[in-house]
Amino acid sequence: MKSSSIQSPKSEISQALEECRRYTSLLTYNTDYENLTKQAHPDFSPIGWHLGHIAFTEAYWILEKLAGFPPLFPEYKNLFAADGLPKKARQNLPPLAELQTYLKTVRLKTLDYLATANLDDQLRLWWWLIQHESQHSETIAIIKKLQQLDQFFSSKTISLSDSYPGEQLESTMVKVAAGNFLMGSNDIQAQDNEKPAHLVYLDSYLIDIYPVTIAQYQKFINSQGYQNSQYWSHEGWQWLQNNQLTHPLYWSTLPEHNNYPVCGVSYYEADAYANFVGKRLPTEAEWEKAAQKSSPNNPDNRCYAMLGTVWEWTSSWFQPYSEFSSFPYAGYSKAYFDNQHRVLKGGSYVTQTWAMRASFRNWYHPWVRQIFAGFRCAQDS
Ligand code: AVJ
Ligand code: FE
Repeated sequence: MKSSSIQSPKSEISQALEECRRYTSLLTYNTDYENLTKQAHPDFSPIGWHLGHIAFTEAYWILEKLAGFPPLFPEYKNLFAADGLPKKARQNLPPLAELQTYLKTVRLKTLDYLATANLDDQLRLWWWLIQHESQHSETIAIIKKLQQLDQFFSSKTISLSDSYPGEQLESTMVKVAAGNFLMGSNDIQAQDNEKPAHLVYLDSYLIDIYPVTIAQYQKFINSQGYQNSQYWSHEGWQWLQNNQLTHPLYWSTLPEHNNYPVCGVSYYEADAYANFVGKRLPTEAEWEKAAQKSSPNNPDNRCYAMLGTVWEWTSSWFQPYSEFSSFPYAGYSKAYFDNQHRVLKGGSYVTQTWAMRASFRNWYHPWVRQIFAGFRCAQDS
């Protein structure tokens, strides 16, 4: 999170609110009613629902909880609260102009309140709210991709070919020395699931310096990887039999995309590829330690493209750190500590700055391949 000490927290927050909203608006301003309201995939609510939910969440946490105002637009509560209707029942939505008015009306009141609020005990909730919107805007970007409103194959990919000649992209790994590192974060912007920061000891290990590329993954496909159960976990093979897939979702065979990161794979596909090359996926701790060692100040032994290229699957289940405490509500993280969700790290090319750091934890079911996710491999050393 870029934060500057010369700015007051209040102006940092109002700027972040504005910057984050600019992106939400840019993604949605010209959405027609069909694309606003249809489900692009059963695991994702329609774009219009996300817009209403962003406004509802801001009104609920800032205007009701912090400012103590009575509910604004109570008629929207059942539709736009996270625990309201099931995903498939969220398609009967107001037109875009009405959703934009809802967002704008809430935002003006939010800014009015911010101007006079005493932020001493509120900072964490304000930063949470900004990250909340930024995560829903990433989901909107995914839905647009699924609706093929975003035809770009991928943008802001790893500039692998810029920094390294092609041959060097072949399975280059770096060794991370044994020792302790500080995992998680105690920052004011940290989510409940990142806290508290705590020391973790890891034996030495090897990790790919780049995410797996399309050219590398093509070899798995060419070697009948999708037809051969030996590379797949039992669960992954079952999933594959039910889905009959032959390549990642956001796939391209154009030569100019050879060095792009694989994008649009489930955990099962990532795990199968790692087995195919005799490696494994990194644990979350291995990934996070490598990312910390990869600061621009440490040009030797670093990994590349860890933040802001593709989300990267790790082998870790989403689980709390010890002394975890829910914020701002148990449904945010705790509801997902169910050993059914794998952790993803690093952020994609549409992830905004507020969710982009080594300690940030994303989580999805292992079969989800619609998100902008790839992976890199690791190995014991
Ligand atoms: C962490 C991205 C899986 O979008 O479902 C948004 C974030 N939680 N509102 C999601 C979230 C509540 C969450 N992910
Ligand atoms: Fe939400």
